[in-house]
Amino acid sequence: MQDEMINKGKRYLANTYNRYPMVITKGEGCWVWDMTGRRYLDFLAGIAVCNLGHVHKDVLEGLALQAGKLFHISNLFFIEPQIKAAEILVEHSFGDKVFFCNSGAEANEAAIKLARRYSWSKYGDRRYKIIAMENSFHGRTLATLSATGQTKFQEGFAPLLQGISYVPFNDIDAVRKSIDDETCAVIMEVIQAEGGVYVAGKEYMKALREITREKDVLLIVDEVQTGIGRTGKLFAYENFGIEPDIMSLAKALGNGFPVGAIIAKDAVMQAFVPGTHASTFGGNPLAAAAVVATLDTMISEGVLKNCQTVGKYLYNGLLSLKKKYPFIVEIRGMGLIWGIELSIDGNAVLKSFMDEGVIINCTKGNILRLLPPLIVKNEEVDLFLEVADRVFEKQMKKQ
Ligand SMILES: Cc1ncc(COP(=O)(O)O)c(C=O)c1O
Repeated sequence: MQDEMINKGKRYLANTYNRYPMVITKGEGCWVWDMTGRRYLDFLAGIAVCNLGHVHKDVLEGLALQAGKLFHISNLFFIEPQIKAAEILVEHSFGDKVFFCNSGAEANEAAIKLARRYSWSKYGDRRYKIIAMENSFHGRTLATLSATGQTKFQEGFAPLLQGISYVPFNDIDAVRKSIDDETCAVIMEVIQAEGGVYVAGKEYMKALREITREKDVLLIVDEVQTGIGRTGKLFAYENFGIEPDIMSLAKALGNGFPVGAIIAKDAVMQAFVPGTHASTFGGNPLAAAAVVATLDTMISEGVLKNCQTVGKYLYNGLLSLKKKYPFIVEIRGMGLIWGIELSIDGNAVLKSFMDEGVIINCTKGNILRLLPPLIVKNEEVDLFLEVADRVFEKQMKKQ
């Protein structure tokens, strides 16, 4: 039955993904089941989306209650759960105002538009340039693809958005040299996730914040993957002793319900006035109910603490594996986002994990990426580490 469904998928779906040959039909906490009834330990969480685990009861309840009242009404009206969601985000972040959209790319698109509009309203036409980081990932729309500092994603889509340049990540002199009178913003991830889990330096972030503030250049932090608890803080920027001017969110914001947002200081968000930006579905009642339930649970139920302690436990386990297997080059990350850089082909390793019933991801061909739900327990980490040991042992024998 599963094979039949996969063949149908190949027949009818656009060929945009290298899909694993599985149809996942059910999830609960850190576990998912495929169509054959096989159970998998999910150390990917829908690519950093289901941070509270699959089918979390509070999110389910929030969605069900809202679904019984109103699915959609449009932003021509005030929407009660949207206002509540914005209130929680503002009360727990640097920001004053929220704009809701539907995805990470849309959030970054809004951030780029807001930065240009802010600069335009203050300084006029010629201040439109955006500095992005090499090896970054910001999404697949044309503007966010232009801000993505990896040419492999851009191939065949030229001409891209004008006015974007790239500097090496973690190189403060490079940013300093690149900012000129026409620069309106710097866009970056504090942890380059898709790029291979590279963490920004704390001193670098502080210096970057100082330079950008001095020049009234907006600092856009893309927290689409790192936001909503992934690093053990609600937002990853909190680990670096800085505050951005604009932050983009999506992925885990609705714990699986599609929703995105940007948050900004009032002085910046004032550049958006009626008619300048909009989204039909953005923050609709269902999406917003998912956000409220997700954030309430994340904040009140010790999820962040769990992420910190279990994250350390996982890191220590990974370090032990690194000592044992010489092809593990480096372990990088924070909280519950970890990259295991290998000197061998990561895709073969990934397949072995899948065969053993553990879902992970491989980025850049040789970096295993772990993004388990933040409710993961030490026992589940033990299971993961046992499998990893077996998989790596097998690789050793092949070397
Ligand atoms: C840092 C970052 N920004 C933006 C995106 C794009 O998000 P979406 O796929 O929801 O458009 C991603 C997706 O992986 C991401 O990791």
